[in-house]
Amino acid sequence: MTSVKSLTASVHARLADALSAALPEAASADPLLRRSDRADYQANGILALAKKAKANPRELATQVVEHVVTGDLIADVEVSGPGFLNVTVSDKAITENLAARAADGSGRLGVPQREDAGTTVIDYAQPNVAKEMHVGHLRSAVIGDAVRRMLDFTGERTIGRHHIGDWGTQFGMLIQYLIEHPHELDHEADPSTDVEAAGEEAMSNLNRLYKASRAVFDSDEDFKTRARQRVVALQSGDEETLALWQRFVDESKIYFYSVFAKLDMPVADDEIVGESAYNPMMAETARMLEESGVAVRSEGALVVFFDEIRGKDDKPVPLIVQKADGGFGYAASDLSAIRDRVFGLKADTLLYVVDARQALHFRMVFETARRAGWLSDAVKAVHLEFGTVLGKDGKPFKTREGETVRLEDLLDEASERAATVVREKAEAGGIELTEEEIAERGAQVGIGAVKYADLSTSANRDYKFDLDQMVSLTGDTSVYLQYAYARARSILRKAGEARPVAHPELELHAAERALGLHLDAFADLVAEAAAEYAPHKLTAYLYQLASHLTSFYADCPVLKADTPEQTENRLFLCDLTSRTLRQGMTLLGIQTPERL
Ligand code: ARG
Repeated sequence: MTSVKSLTASVHARLADALSAALPEAASADPLLRRSDRADYQANGILALAKKAKANPRELATQVVEHVVTGDLIADVEVSGPGFLNVTVSDKAITENLAARAADGSGRLGVPQREDAGTTVIDYAQPNVAKEMHVGHLRSAVIGDAVRRMLDFTGERTIGRHHIGDWGTQFGMLIQYLIEHPHELDHEADPSTDVEAAGEEAMSNLNRLYKASRAVFDSDEDFKTRARQRVVALQSGDEETLALWQRFVDESKIYFYSVFAKLDMPVADDEIVGESAYNPMMAETARMLEESGVAVRSEGALVVFFDEIRGKDDKPVPLIVQKADGGFGYAASDLSAIRDRVFGLKADTLLYVVDARQALHFRMVFETARRAGWLSDAVKAVHLEFGTVLGKDGKPFKTREGETVRLEDLLDEASERAATVVREKAEAGGIELTEEEIAERGAQVGIGAVKYADLSTSANRDYKFDLDQMVSLTGDTSVYLQYAYARARSILRKAGEARPVAHPELELHAAERALGLHLDAFADLVAEAAAEYAPHKLTAYLYQLASHLTSFYADCPVLKADTPEQTENRLFLCDLTSRTLRQGMTLLGIQTPERL
């Protein structure tokens, strides 16, 4: 496993050495190094240390400076303000370090694999059977996929779980209706239909069935009774009933797959493990909780109480493990899933990418599992909550008629608008693109835009779904990053004979230094964003990277540089930047077309 130490880490080590030489009791102290506008870095740690040692901070800072080894790595260090250190690194160190990163044969751009990595089971992209997916499901999928890619890249072993809603009393009504109208889900097997068309057909069948059965259920008391009996048959494992239930699940999966395909997101069939999969464990889960005293009987139901969780009249709100009629619900399935993931899949971390509105549910479920000993200091559970998707008007996202927006329509619209942007930009640049190319790039740009907008707001915040803003060429959008990538690639193509080669002996322009130092931060940033499950930190980093690249082009001619060496060195910067952009976007699940 290769990994290239970042310049920041090397400077940090140098300063820590100087600090302990100047003040032996500060041997393991952190110099608190940050990137700075004044110099390359500023270290602020001396102030607190001086205070502790009852020393004058400026004097201590001066002593530290005397112990800093300068030359190859650190070009200059000086005391500033009340006792800060301003550090400037050498041009040579910047270029050499980037060259080592570029040469890292693993293609990891210096990002290390964690040696203490464990297993994370990540619960994300969990739509419900026989129901249309909504923007909340989109968010879980997009954030979950990005977090998973980041974790994988840092060496964590990840297992996905799509905890789809495939169980519940609503199936009694649906199955009973299908029994009484047997041809409603029939299909002509037509091998020519594509995933997308099949998905749309499946969902429209399910919608029609849902509406029709609902209408009968609401108007016909006898049907209602038969539907309730059907629920009992389903729960007791009646074969005919189960077979029909399975048809609803299969039909829904056709639809789910089509939406995920449109989202350009891989979903593995063996990771679709819905609520129903835990049915065989539920009774045991309940028994374990009751026997250990974690759950108690209350009015016939099996429940868990929490001191801190109270409702309106200050009455404790319990978690219901088993209803008085013996039925199990959402909580029992999640509690059983925890047992499966901890003891079966041997997870060290359980991560749930779920709407913030389910926060109370997870708090109660996690606390119950902790009391039962299934979760511990060694196995933690995290609810990565995300906020609500809002319309432009700041209200929950709906159509003008107040209906939920169909995801396929939304994604199609994003792709169409992006296609318009691609077309206009190509025409303005005199680039000829075929209709096919425009459509393909439109999808890459449009889907990327939706994902990026979702990922660039920190997950716990609500965010406004605004397509116009998402596909804008300027500002913090994926399109801006995709163009930055395509532009770098185009320069590399136009270079002809000239190759990207690092020349550490060359002096760097300020814009080259800024770009180089930002590239240096990639590895540490990826590790941080992954550890914090924070894709928005990666989007912010990439946006800055693209901005540095833009300033670099403005100030530093690449193909018309002063010397051939300078051209090579600048091509080298273009190459490493494009690879970093591409890797970063890949971690977000966003494509980077070679030409735009
Ligand atoms: N299907 C649920 C919904 O649509 C989300 C499931 C979340 N995961 C879980 N383990 N409860 O709201």
